[in-house]
Amino acid sequence: MDGRRTSETVESLLDDLTREEKLDLVRGAPDPEGTSTGYLPGVPRLDVPPLRLVDGPMGIRAGGFEDPLAATAFPASISLAATFDPELAREQGAAMAREAKARGQDAVLGPGVNLIRVPQGGRNFEYLSEEPTLSAAQAGAVVRGIQGEDAIATPKHYVANSQETDRVTVSSEVDERTLRELYLPAFRAAVDAGAGSVMTAYNRINGIDANDHAHLIRDVLKEEWGFQGYTVSDWFATRDAASAANGGLDLEMPGTSVREAFGEYEGEPDLDAIDPGGMPGPDQGGVFGADLAVAIEEGEVPLERLDDMVARVLRAMEEIGLLGDPRPTTERPDREGAIDTDDHRALAERIAVRGTVLLENDGVLPLADDADVALIGPNVDGATLGGGGSSAVTPVRERSPATAFSDREPSVTVEEGLPPVEGADLFDLFDGDGEEEVESDGREPKMDDAVAAAERAEVAVVVVGDTTTEGRDREDLRLPGRQDELVSRVADAGGRTVVVVNSGGPVEVPWREKVDAIAAAWYPGQADGAALTAVLYGDEEPGGRLPVTFAPEGEYPTSDERRYPGVDGEAHYEEGLFVGYRHFDAADAEATYPFGHGESYAEFAYGEPELVEGDRAGPGVAVRVPVENVADRPGREVVQVYVRPPRNDDRPVRELAGFASVEIGAGEERAVEMGLEGRAFSRWDGEEGWTVDPGTYTVEVGRSSGDLRTTVAVEIEP
Ligand code: BGC
Repeated sequence: MDGRRTSETVESLLDDLTREEKLDLVRGAPDPEGTSTGYLPGVPRLDVPPLRLVDGPMGIRAGGFEDPLAATAFPASISLAATFDPELAREQGAAMAREAKARGQDAVLGPGVNLIRVPQGGRNFEYLSEEPTLSAAQAGAVVRGIQGEDAIATPKHYVANSQETDRVTVSSEVDERTLRELYLPAFRAAVDAGAGSVMTAYNRINGIDANDHAHLIRDVLKEEWGFQGYTVSDWFATRDAASAANGGLDLEMPGTSVREAFGEYEGEPDLDAIDPGGMPGPDQGGVFGADLAVAIEEGEVPLERLDDMVARVLRAMEEIGLLGDPRPTTERPDREGAIDTDDHRALAERIAVRGTVLLENDGVLPLADDADVALIGPNVDGATLGGGGSSAVTPVRERSPATAFSDREPSVTVEEGLPPVEGADLFDLFDGDGEEEVESDGREPKMDDAVAAAERAEVAVVVVGDTTTEGRDREDLRLPGRQDELVSRVADAGGRTVVVVNSGGPVEVPWREKVDAIAAAWYPGQADGAALTAVLYGDEEPGGRLPVTFAPEGEYPTSDERRYPGVDGEAHYEEGLFVGYRHFDAADAEATYPFGHGESYAEFAYGEPELVEGDRAGPGVAVRVPVENVADRPGREVVQVYVRPPRNDDRPVRELAGFASVEIGAGEERAVEMGLEGRAFSRWDGEEGWTVDPGTYTVEVGRSSGDLRTTVAVEIEP
């Protein structure tokens, strides 16, 4: 049992459970109520209730794809990261947990915390950022929120699962230092924040299935970090019972093979025709049943391992009150939740506002209340909820840009300009049809109408977007269909042009020089229109900063086939630590908008920073910097601290070490204090582990990785 903290309740259950009952506690089964994404039957004889797992990470998807039960549709996780505000992340976690409980669910399958390595990544919208310190802060906060409401958080997908192309077969070839410094910190933070569960990934890491990875699961996650909860497989990801159990996998989901689960559809979809890289093969999954029993019987998997697996599941259940006294079995435990409350709706809107990044603004924004506006865009009639796949949420209510603009100012003209860009969907992969469906034929009367509306208006607001989905990466970073042409033609029409981009990650903005303002609003969720009008009309600050670098596709470090999507089944993470701005800084490559960038409607002046606890680095070091709002309106600034290490040969030029999102009144000054994250001065050394080299470090403070305003030196003695 690895000397774990195991309560008397769990100990006595382990004594009382039969081997068959134990085997049933490590493998999913069909949910009799059909509401959960993953279901674990309890053991009524011993008053162990069932455990219900439900998809996140942007809201709750109970009831399955065919009959979804409504829930609050929060903005994409990348938008939550763009807020640079762990308190908002905690609140979203708590709200999702309350919604899960209201639907009778116990575990949320989120947050998604894989590092954004590849700009085309189909699931970038479900993840947080390219930056381990930012991702760790937001991941830990979401987990605290979920667990704080007595639900189990499930950070996913452990680990180096940063592409959808061949996601089920590819091996991420990545060295230990890069794992430690980039890909693991968000998981570590989630574990430290009390996550009851961790979901393993579909891919392999250095040739070994993520489910079977003894080094990463057993040694790092459980031994080194002291993770007490259970690891759960991604759906149908398992291939071999003994390797998974011995590698450290504790719970298999959904507990059957793909063929068993979908066989009832009698050949539809044709399981053997599904892209074997993007979706698990027909015979994957379902190994913790008979196979595991045999492996234990034959001594291939020790019996103590089964006890440990069960103990981990029970511990996580106990932690959220499912094994309380009296224990509920037939009835649901008293686990009150709440769906679609005023607070949750307001929170979804607040995060969408605070996650909106103003990339450019020549002064056209904020719009005057009586501005003569044409609202243009193929999808303005609906809220942009998210990308495709398991994270899709069906909201009770949603507010489209068209409704929000028209309600605010009835004189706004609305033109689509192009036929709606259809969202990409994971289930297209089942039909062997993975192409984005975008109308692209010849003449487009709608575009002429949009251009005419722009000509008549003072300001054209053009809303454009990409479509991304789990299971498939984007082909490139261009906007699908003729949207670039639409923006260009509207910009040429003569009035002023504001472009709003709804995307799951970076996009190229070839019309950048022609337009007056650009806002990245990601996938804003159910509050789309409400948040958009609040920001564009200036009721609220665009509080977001870029959690990913925007650049032309060829400038990213993964624009080499060996690195992405990989060759011969291997994606070589040869760029090592140089992902995102770490690459752009080191290579002097051209970023369109750097990491951390975002304009405010106010303007800020930075004073001299000081180290708050002495001038020696170490745990507890904080930086204090005076920041003044020199504008005549209140504003929100995201103050960022980067650390530049003394030697640069094998280390990034700078790395984010702390940040704070602060509101500052017109003409006011605030002393902003930011704790520097514990590893701010360290690097991972193959022999020594985390190591702090002596020398002079420069602590840089500013508005983005590309706009540093002031510095202070930190001496570290040998
Ligand atoms: C996804 C997971 C998700 C699971 C259950 C998988 O396809 O990768 O993120 O939680 O399905 O829907």
